[in-house]
Amino acid sequence: MLQDRFGRVLTYLRVSLLKGCNLSCKYCMPERIPFRMDEVLSAAELEKLVGRFVERGITKLRLTGGEPTIRPDLVEIVERLARLEGVRDIALSTNAVRLRQLAQPLRAAGVRRINVSLDSLEADAFKQITGSAALHQVLDGIEAAREVGFHPIKLNTVVMRGVNDGEVEALVAFAAVRGLEIRFIEMMPTGATHGLQPRHFVSNQDVFERLGGAARWEAVGHSANAGPARDYRDRARPQAPTIGFINPLSQNFCSDCNRLRLTADGKLRTCLFGQQDLPLRPHLTAPDWQRRLDAAIDRAVGEKQESHQLESGDWGSMISFVQVGG
Ligand code: 5AD
Ligand code: SF4
Repeated sequence: MLQDRFGRVLTYLRVSLLKGCNLSCKYCMPERIPFRMDEVLSAAELEKLVGRFVERGITKLRLTGGEPTIRPDLVEIVERLARLEGVRDIALSTNAVRLRQLAQPLRAAGVRRINVSLDSLEADAFKQITGSAALHQVLDGIEAAREVGFHPIKLNTVVMRGVNDGEVEALVAFAAVRGLEIRFIEMMPTGATHGLQPRHFVSNQDVFERLGGAARWEAVGHSANAGPARDYRDRARPQAPTIGFINPLSQNFCSDCNRLRLTADGKLRTCLFGQQDLPLRPHLTAPDWQRRLDAAIDRAVGEKQESHQLESGDWGSMISFVQVGG
């Protein structure tokens, strides 16, 4: 079991498969950063490394990027990870641009749950946010995920003032009629976006009020391992999918943190907004790789910080979410 010095048990590993993306979302990577496939862990290395985490007590995996669907070997990776004994759940975070082709093979390979980033339903705003005209593909990708039976499908939306803040009601309606859950995530500052963040930040309290507030929405009981989202149901339509709010800034949830993160090039990150990345890849080729890996993992877990320091303007060493997958 992996437990840190604050007593938090770590059961969830977010695995970034690639540092790059086929979009460049304003809140994530305002400038496209070039990426190199030769820097990333191979499918075999991922299996070995993630396998060790699973033996140490990780039961939930989420594959992220950047954009994981750019990797040509994504389906093979899922197959390898799904075979690991002890893995109970494999989820994927994607922008859905390539989901039409991939939804079926991913489901067959063992992905159970999908989160899709969707910030706008209007071509102009979508273009403004992502730098891309792929809205149509994204919507079609979401359809494909529904058709092959992914459930739940969660939409992740970052609301930006002056960009998509007029669309929150339309996005909630879009999700509701399709049986999708939507979660609003507050825009967080990173090395690449802290200049833009104050201008565009909208607190989830505002989003909640715009959607009708407590008169319309009733809080759903929050279980300890439910993750950071606060979920609400529509009082008038209790059977409709819930909406959720992830409020890293206005409502710090670090005390319930159960996560570790692995970067695409094999570094362990114990906090999204931490300072440290511990390289694990070099240990994989050593004869006593398990012992070395365990020692490195234990050291990093032992040093996991108690909380992020975003309130005091410290976002750690992360330049962009594209590096670590959020
Ligand atoms: N603030 C909040 N969420 C972000 N993401 C990326 N960058 C940011 C940011 N600055 C999240 C979004 C997106 C996912 C890929 O990462 O949820 O959907
Ligand atoms: Fe790509 Fe997601 Fe970053 Fe957008 S937020 S640029 S989709 S990794």
